[in-house]
Amino acid sequence: MTTFLIIGGTGKVGSRLARLLRDAGHGVRIASRTSGDVRFDWRDAESYGPAFAGVDGVFLVGPGSATDWSDTLSAVLAVAAGEGVRHAVFLSARGVEFLPDGAVDRAERALMAGPVPWTILRPSHFAQNFTEAMFVPEDGVVVAPVAAGAEPFIDAFDIAAVAAEVLGSGGWTGEIIELSGPAALTFDEAVAVLGEAAGQSYRFVDEGLDAHRERLLAAGTPEGYVTWRLAMLGGIRSGDDSYVSDGVQRVLGRPATSFQQWAEREATPA
Ligand SMILES: NC(=O)c1ccc[n+]([C@@H]2O[C@H](COP(=O)([O-])OP(=O)(O)OC[C@H]3O[C@@H](n4cnc5c(N)ncnc54)[C@H](OP(=O)(O)O)[C@@H]3O)[C@@H](O)[C@H]2O)c1
Repeated sequence: MTTFLIIGGTGKVGSRLARLLRDAGHGVRIASRTSGDVRFDWRDAESYGPAFAGVDGVFLVGPGSATDWSDTLSAVLAVAAGEGVRHAVFLSARGVEFLPDGAVDRAERALMAGPVPWTILRPSHFAQNFTEAMFVPEDGVVVAPVAAGAEPFIDAFDIAAVAAEVLGSGGWTGEIIELSGPAALTFDEAVAVLGEAAGQSYRFVDEGLDAHRERLLAAGTPEGYVTWRLAMLGGIRSGDDSYVSDGVQRVLGRPATSFQQWAEREATPA
């Protein structure tokens, strides 16, 4: 049996990937700091060896985008190679080019230079940000510094399905795969679709990039993360991130899930 370690295995993508790999008959080891099958903390080198023992392939969700963690990644990959890991699939982000030399860019380079054959997944912004993360409506309002910019939101389940195929097949090594939904929506459009599915009246309110930065800093958000987030959201605002990527079709041989299909599945009351 092939065994996969999923770092970040309790998160939005990792939890869906764990289910898919288990359903396909693979051995799965979910890693996180707080729950799962094995304790793994990027900041605790003692946790690396036990997590990788007997593992064939690993899915990597990093410790965040606030500070450079490329040396830590190199150390983890050295342990993984020593344990015989043959494939590392890294959850990066589309738009990494909006912040050259940022933490994610450096992590990608460390992975490419490392001893383990790699695949990089670069998804667009997740649809699940509207139900599980930064765009969840508060009092019916989604506030974001994106104006009329459009984004081809991707269903995290599609990212997980691509990761499951890449890990399960052992293929796609040395490739960067960009992933997005099938069409770009403005936030006005996305919030309308979400509200329709949820049976709620939601609306979108634009916020300037500077105002967004000030609000995050005032809330104690680390400056490095604020810089990363503004680069990513700035890519939506400018329109530079509105292009559609074909990774889901190429890897899975089917179209990516639309925002509407996702909303009807995950945002409709049971
Ligand atoms: N959201 C988006 O729109 C978007 C778009 C493109 C790319 N991405 C990338 O996707 C990644 C996040 O994936 P996700 O949304 O699936 O994750 P998530 O839901 O934010 O969950 C984070 C996972 O990482 C674990 N974790 C956090 N800190 C850790 C540490 N120091 N050591 C070990 N595990 C740690 C968490 O578990 P514990 O807390 O228990 O440790 C959890 O399992 C980020 O790298 C982000 O840049 C996101």
